[in-house]
Amino acid sequence: MLSLANCFDSKDVTDFIDRTKKFLNTQDFLEIYCEPKIDGVSFSVTYVDGKLINGATRGDGYIGENITANIKTIRNLPYKINNAPEFLEIRGEIFIEKNDFLLLNTQQESQGKAAFANPRNSAAGSLRQLDPNTTLSRPLKYFVYAIGYSSSKFANTQKELLQKLSDFGFQTNPIGEITNSLQELIDFYQKLLLIREQLGYEIDGIVYKINNFQLQDRLGFIARSPRFAIAHKFPATIAETKLLNISVQVGRTGAITPVAELAPIKIGGVTVSKATLHNFDEIKRLDIRIGDNVFLHRAGDVIPKVTQVNLSRRTGEEQMVLVPTKCPSCDSTLHIDPDNVVVRCDNGLN
Ligand code: IVH
Repeated sequence: MLSLANCFDSKDVTDFIDRTKKFLNTQDFLEIYCEPKIDGVSFSVTYVDGKLINGATRGDGYIGENITANIKTIRNLPYKINNAPEFLEIRGEIFIEKNDFLLLNTQQESQGKAAFANPRNSAAGSLRQLDPNTTLSRPLKYFVYAIGYSSSKFANTQKELLQKLSDFGFQTNPIGEITNSLQELIDFYQKLLLIREQLGYEIDGIVYKINNFQLQDRLGFIARSPRFAIAHKFPATIAETKLLNISVQVGRTGAITPVAELAPIKIGGVTVSKATLHNFDEIKRLDIRIGDNVFLHRAGDVIPKVTQVNLSRRTGEEQMVLVPTKCPSCDSTLHIDPDNVVVRCDNGLN
């Protein structure tokens, strides 16, 4: 399973369009199918004589994990398909919706289990379960969007493919459009950027695919990415707010991590009042002081990060952050690891 080349601005998109036109020796704008880039776990599912026989994760692209028993628990993923090619391998993305992720984390915590950092991790963790009954209890969803291999051809374009896959009984993303100009393509990107937070699932960009499969075949691949498609990534969501305090958290291994307590701020549609700071070295490196105005980054992940201090708003009233010397949980003396990064409570079983 390959990956997509990324692009970040309209200049990169123009370059992609120009490159494909040059490669195909044409002046005409080529129809491009635009669809959301789902921030989930990519998977492959194989059908022989219409029967699901194998499911795999992407892994390193060559070898993935066998998830056959677990994907069979996903509702709406057909176990049998009619009138299918003899051999059919389909690719898509498995994900957990944002609301379901929050509910799942509440359940995890109430059972004393570790919470997942974001919806993508919760989907990956759910697929990695040894007991398919656990996977069955997880609210996994999926969309399919590509063919890995098919013993016979049944679509000529990406749009037609999605229609046929939907006819076979697969879930395909209803959001997707053919565009006929750079302007239409950019309009689609802007529209999705605006409605991104209202979608039930996380997306991290738009995938542009040359719609016509004959042209896709001619364009082929370069290294480990197709020449006929590209991912236009969304910018990470950034916001600025006041750092009210820094609290400390004791992890499972005794690591003491600082947590930024923030004046609540809406970032990417979600109100945030806490952010991760990783470790005390990071606070020193960024010269973060209590009372500072800080920039936050939220890129797909649900827990945002403090990335920078807005020095232009410093008043001189800010207070330096002190590295704690006593464990907030058991009051033992804390140790600083030799790498000077992790502050740790090693009070054994106590
Ligand atoms: S097409 C050659 N379409 O993004 C790969 N990928 O780095 C063709 N992804 O590994 C993939 N949404 O897991 C395609 N609508 C979409 C996608 C999508 C998410 C993932 C996929 C791939 C990664 C690209």
